[in-house]
Amino acid sequence: MSQTSSSQDPTRSLDAFAREKLAGLDAAALRRRLVATARGPDAAAERGGRALVSFSCNDYLGLAHEPRVIAAAAEALTRYGAGAGASRLVTGNSPPLVALEERLARHKGKEAALLFGSGYLANLGIAPALVGEGDLILIDELGHSCLFAGAKMSGAQVVRFAHNELAQLRGLLAEHRGTARRALILTERVFSMDGDRAPLPEILALAGEYDAWTLVDDAHGLGVVEPGTRAPLEMGTLSKTLGSYGGYLCASQAVIDLLTSRARSLVYTTGLPPASAAAALAALDIVEAEPARAARPLALARRFTARLGLPDATSPIVPVLVGEAEAALALSAALEARGFLVVAIRPPTVAPGTARLRVAFSAAHGEAQVDALAEALAALAPESVRAA
Ligand SMILES: Cc1ncc(COP(=O)(O)O)c(C=O)c1O
Repeated sequence: MSQTSSSQDPTRSLDAFAREKLAGLDAAALRRRLVATARGPDAAAERGGRALVSFSCNDYLGLAHEPRVIAAAAEALTRYGAGAGASRLVTGNSPPLVALEERLARHKGKEAALLFGSGYLANLGIAPALVGEGDLILIDELGHSCLFAGAKMSGAQVVRFAHNELAQLRGLLAEHRGTARRALILTERVFSMDGDRAPLPEILALAGEYDAWTLVDDAHGLGVVEPGTRAPLEMGTLSKTLGSYGGYLCASQAVIDLLTSRARSLVYTTGLPPASAAAALAALDIVEAEPARAARPLALARRFTARLGLPDATSPIVPVLVGEAEAALALSAALEARGFLVVAIRPPTVAPGTARLRVAFSAAHGEAQVDALAEALAALAPESVRAA
């Protein structure tokens, strides 16, 4: 079809729009780029032909390369094929998914579990299936992007509370709970970019006072920190400690049954690949059978914070605050030149002025590697750490 003389080529305005946006991101040092990274065992990563020790993976127990996990995935791959073939509600509910759900529920002390394609998809599905217009969601301001996305999709009134601020949470419940039909509190067991933990016993006590439901995102806690109190809704991912891919919710049977019918990100998407579930199941076996391995990332994180005079680590995640995005990128590049992969985290993932290196420890790291990173940071960024 020929264009009339007055019509424009929309691809030109589209590209112009993209280029203008990219120029803005470049100017603020906020452009993101994909870098091919070949991960190997023992926290190894190769970028551009360079061998690096990675402190940026969430594979906290090194299970993605654990031979028993790979063998379980390979067997499921051969037996059930590469993909699930359909939504779980059609023919995609392959046996490894069913087995993993049972094990996850048991691990979390819950009646049932539901697997999703990813943790992100789980959080997109959970809140909208439980609350909507006329309801209230209270969310920690440092909650993961997918918690906010699910909250927004629900149509409920969404109010954020200052990070871990119980007094404010109580005030908001007192102010809004009376007019809301149902209320849902969203928080994380271990915060992904700060590594600190939510005061869950206190949050659950408040939730009890105001008849609010609590969803805890346990993406960074499962298997590597003592869980303490369990919330009625415990979601998480298979992609971090369990070294695989996929997401889950553990809850009562009634809630899981409801979500099975109502969570759109379960109903209208293809089931998790069977091999991903089989890998996660083998990984969960190892988490439960090898507590010394599970304790190691936190022990290494504490060794690191002690050496650098940083606040004592309470999870395997340690933020090293830098400030401006450009400076965080420069520090990351300087570490890479010394053989360490520690990716810079910039806004909007974190608040403006709080760009940082997020250091993630794994059971696969050796003490000497941790000490070497601490030494390099003390030399390169003495203003971000206290030790020299
Ligand atoms: C706190 C938190 N929740 C959810 C997710 C999403 O999980 P997934 O990677 O399985 O989509 C992530 C990270 O990826 C996360 O850090």
